[in-house]
Amino acid sequence: MVSHFTSHHSHQFIFITLTTIFILTSSSSSAATETHPSRPFKKIYAFGDSFTDTGNTKTATGPTGFGHVSNPPYGTTFFHHPTNRYSDGRLVIDFVAETLSLPYLPPYRKIRAKVSSSTFGVNFAVAGATAINHAFFVKNNLSLDVTPESIQTQLLWFNKYLESQGCKNASASDCKEVFDDALFWVGEIGVNDYAYAVGSSIPDDTIRKLGIASFTGVLQSLLEKGAKYVVVQGLPLSGCLPLAMSLAAEDDRDNIGCVKSVNNQSYIHNAVLQAKLEELRKQFPNAVITYADYWNAYRTVMKSPSQYGFKELFSCCCGKGEPYNFDVFTTCGMANVSACANPSKYINWDGVHLTEAMYKVVSNMFLNGTFSHPPFSYLLGRKIKQCG
Ligand SMILES: *[C@@H]1O[C@H](CO)[C@@H](O)[C@H](O)[C@H]1NC(C)=O
Ligand SMILES: *[C@@H]1O[C@H](CO)[C@@H](O)[C@H](O)[C@H]1NC(C)=O
Ligand SMILES: *[C@@H]1O[C@H](CO)[C@@H](O)[C@H](O)[C@H]1NC(C)=O
Ligand SMILES: *[C@@H]1O[C@H](CO)[C@@H](O)[C@H](O)[C@H]1NC(C)=O
Ligand SMILES: *[C@@H]1O[C@H](CO)[C@@H](O)[C@H](O)[C@H]1NC(C)=O
Repeated sequence: MVSHFTSHHSHQFIFITLTTIFILTSSSSSAATETHPSRPFKKIYAFGDSFTDTGNTKTATGPTGFGHVSNPPYGTTFFHHPTNRYSDGRLVIDFVAETLSLPYLPPYRKIRAKVSSSTFGVNFAVAGATAINHAFFVKNNLSLDVTPESIQTQLLWFNKYLESQGCKNASASDCKEVFDDALFWVGEIGVNDYAYAVGSSIPDDTIRKLGIASFTGVLQSLLEKGAKYVVVQGLPLSGCLPLAMSLAAEDDRDNIGCVKSVNNQSYIHNAVLQAKLEELRKQFPNAVITYADYWNAYRTVMKSPSQYGFKELFSCCCGKGEPYNFDVFTTCGMANVSACANPSKYINWDGVHLTEAMYKVVSNMFLNGTFSHPPFSYLLGRKIKQCG
């Protein structure tokens, strides 16, 4: 999600700097047999922003921000080295891959030259990505340091990938596998759009309308090509992120102690998005379109944190400063910042992105719990029926 935020005071953008890309090897990548019993899908295609990006972010240079994802302690928990994931460890998409007995998804930019050899799918998500086309931010003079890749760019990349497979869509001969055996995981996207517009005169309504229109267009295009199994993550409880907490007025709080206006913005966005998904379900009755309710999953954890093993709700694990262990100018990955001793007790990792522990809890709620509509088990059942 958010890798860029404007500060009200300085109007200075915070952004990502990335210099190294690590090759990921997965413990579960062996034995790629067609008949793998717990492997209902052969491929996953992922889209989204830094909540889903497993290494597509590119080097940017700038004064401050979440520019240090390639430095420790990023990656400390599971991979034991930075992987360009914005977390201490695995993301939701990694747990999705594990649950489906597939290896972790390679980032598109890493394998672009030999994308055709990517057997198990591709991750097109880019940190900082927007739902609205980049031209909009340029036109409104908001493009300074904004990640130029939008969800539209990710669709173009997917189209290139299809070309590399000799496919345009599922109706072309021998392209069925590219679609019929694939899970499309569309991670959260849209929070960056609101963040980039902070301090501008563009109303939230405009951002929402344009963001959802662009996003829906991309989903429609994927479905027209032949996507059959699609999971769409809604926006998270973005008003609970230390960054949002540190920027908002102290009286702008809801009943769980987070920023009311920001949580509400995400809530409304999700409501409009879900109505669009319902339209798409009618338009594409042969596809399964599941909504993963990030907002309510996150809220459920916030309301009973100890039940999920969390002690720290508002402070981030890796940061510096009061009162949320967060300061936009002294962020995780800088030499003068260290991580907490036990990240699994924290919901938030670096002020914006979540800990592996939280991503795991949320993934479980999506995949095994009651926070996907229709449930993920229904989507899997439909897939298995198709196979049988
Ligand atoms: C963007 O900046 C240019 C140059 O300063 C100015 O002419 C233009 O009116 C601005 N556009 C908007 C939408 O603010
Ligand atoms: C799918 O590909 C076929 C063959 O290339 C083409 O004729 C058809 O128009 C395409 N359909 C869509 C929905 O793009
Ligand atoms: C958000 O705000 C809208 C409009 O002001 C209101 O109708 C809605 O109940 C609010 N929802 C939440 C979850 O705060
Ligand atoms: C930490 O280091 C960064 C980069 O060198 C610097 O900008 C920042 O002011 C430092 N913060 C503190 C609290 O010393
Ligand atoms: C969901 O449940 C399955 C089966 O019990 C398990 O293998 C998987 O790890 C779970 N997924 C998550 C993210 O907890």
